[in-house]
This record gives sequence, C-alpha cells and structure tokens, in this order.
Amino acid sequence: MFGQNIGIDLGTEKITAFVEGRGIVFSEDNAIAYDVFNNETYAIGNAAGEMLEKTPEALTVKKPIKGGVISDFSVMTEILSHYIGRLCDKRVFRPNVIISAPSGITSLERKTVIEAACAAGAGKVSVVDEPVISALGAGLSIENPHGTMVIDLGAGTTDIAIITMGTVAYSASIKTAGDTMDEAIQQYIKKEKNINIGLLTAKKLKHTVGCAYKRSEEVEIEATGKNYVTGMPENFNISSTEMYEALKDQINLIFEAVVDVMEQAPAELYSDICHEGILLTGGVAKLPGLDKELSARLGIKVKRTADPEHCAAKGAGYILKNIKEMEDHGYSFRMKEAVL
Ligand SMILES: Nc1ncnc2c1ncn2[C@@H]1O[C@H](COP(=O)(O)OP(=O)(O)OP(=O)(O)O)[C@@H](O)[C@H]1O
Ligand SMILES: [Mg+2]
Repeated sequence: MFGQNIGIDLGTEKITAFVEGRGIVFSEDNAIAYDVFNNETYAIGNAAGEMLEKTPEALTVKKPIKGGVISDFSVMTEILSHYIGRLCDKRVFRPNVIISAPSGITSLERKTVIEAACAAGAGKVSVVDEPVISALGAGLSIENPHGTMVIDLGAGTTDIAIITMGTVAYSASIKTAGDTMDEAIQQYIKKEKNINIGLLTAKKLKHTVGCAYKRSEEVEIEATGKNYVTGMPENFNISSTEMYEALKDQINLIFEAVVDVMEQAPAELYSDICHEGILLTGGVAKLPGLDKELSARLGIKVKRTADPEHCAAKGAGYILKNIKEMEDHGYSFRMKEAVL
C-alpha cells in the first residue's frame, strides 16, 4: 500500500486515530460544540468535551454516540469528516481507512460512515466490529486456534466475546460500562451525602479513587458538589471503600454477563478459555482491581492489556498492516466499492 493508511476507533467517549508508521496520533473526546444562535460549529474534540454541562446559553455540546449506538448521525459524520480531513492530504493520495465501529451499528449506518470517510478524503474504507479489532490490538493472533475471551470495557458498552481463529464464536454486549458507572457514582453520593455532582466530577472520582474491590489501605479525596436540600456548594470527602459500594452493582452486572457468555461456550472452547485466560481492553479495564476481582470470582486468569483504551485503534493498525493475511483467513474487507 502506498502512503500512510489510517485506523480510526469511533468510541462513545473518544475518537482515536492510528496512522501507519506513526502509531496513535490523537485520542480526542467524541464531541462537538455548536453556537445555538447561528448553528455554526464552535469546537470539536477535547475542547468541546471539556464544556459538557458547563456551556453558556449560546453554546450546546453534542455527543454522537450514546450507549454504543450512533444516536446523532449528522453530528458523527461532521466529526469524522473533520478528523479524517485533517489526516488526509487529498492532493497527495487517498489513504485506506479501517474504522472500528460500535457493535450495534446498522448496515445503513455502516454505509453512511463509509460515505462520510470517503467524502473526507479516504480511498478505500472498511468498517470492522469492535471486539475483534480490540483483540487484535491487544496482541491476539488471528492464527491462534485456541478460544480466548476478550472483554472490551468502554464508556458506552461492555462487549464480551469468545474469539477463535480471529473470529467471534460467542458474544454479548451490555450497556453497563464507564458511563453507567459515572451515573452510579452520582446516585450514590446523592443518596448517601445529599449532594449532587456533575458527570465530569463523577468520572474524575472514578479515575482517582474508583475500585472494583475493597482496598486494604483506604484512600480518600475531597470533591465539591451542590447540597440538594440547601442548594449551596459543599465540599465532601469520598473514600475508595465508598466508591467500591457505589460500583459493586455495576461489577456484578458485568460478571453475570461474562458468565452468560461462558455458559454458551461448548466444552472445548470453555477449557481453552480456562487455559488461555481472559483479556481486558477498553478504558474501564484500568479500574483498579477489576482484573483481580473477575479472576477471583471466575477462577480463571484475567489479564489487563497495556494501554487498554487504545487497543481498538491499534487493532485497526494491525489490520492495515496485515490485510493480505487477514483475507487468507477468510476476512473480506468491504471497501467502498463493495458496499455502495
Ligand atoms: N483509570 C480509570 N479507571 C476507571 N475508568 C477509566 C479509567 N480511565 C478511563 N476510564 C473510563 O474508560 C471509558 C473510556 O474508555 P474507551 O476509550 O475504551 O471507551 P470508548 O471506546 O469511547 O467507548 P465504547 O467502546 O463503549 O464506545 C470512560 O468511561 C472512562 O471514564
Ligand atoms: Mg471502544
């Protein structure tokens, strides 16, 4: 292939790009801010994401993917065009683009994503489902004949898949993921402390003192919210044990979904998974203790991949580099001509 081809992960929270020969070139909030008076674009990416729940009257922030589903297609197309356009120099060459899309994408949406990418300067475009692409990015070989379980824990969905020879044998996608964890933290603090906090604060708490198990050494931080009885701002302390309490129902739902998928697997694949273990990808894989907690409950080795939130974009890079081998293994990459 000529020139630098591009891999893009379209996530609920982040849009991440991988460029051949350069690696990950950006990971930005999948968000856009509009001026409500003239409907003009005001900011795209992190600059828009940082304004969430803080916009002045003149601006509105939109996120095109909710719960792993593209909820606003024209917004998604605008963001995609902006970023692909930034990476393509149409005068020089039109790069091939592999896009990792949410597992719930419809065939019509798939076609529109391809059209948007082509309009922004891409040559050939292919859209691949997230669980396989994340597994490849985590280092799984398509030639591995043993069954491996991959759990991709993103912001909008947790995708659980048993993969063998680079294809999905059994899978499930649930909406319990990073965003519902943020909501669970908000609800816990409201119930236990009578304090309302915003989603950005809830996310920050999840990143700093969040955990999936009761830490032996408790950590605590201070945060600010709004007392919902008095309406006044209020500082409060929150500990890792409280965060465990806030998140434990979410962890239970993820555990139950994993067990459901394991129960579908025939004995041979089941024993492969017990032997090969389970891989965790996606940003929520960074939640302290999630790997250990799942491992203790399932009695199976669970491994968090390095740099888990970038696995899907890296997997798109792997495909770009190995298209021929992937096709030899039965993959057909539906480039623009084949889909339109
Ligand atoms: N240290 C951390 N602890 C807990 N959660 C984290 C941590 N770092 C990131 N996250 C969470 O990971 C999620 C983002 O992960 P990722 O970028 O994989 O999602 P996405 O690909 O945008 O979403 P999806 O795949 O569901 O469409 C967010 O909910 C974020 O808060
Ligand atoms: Mg993702």
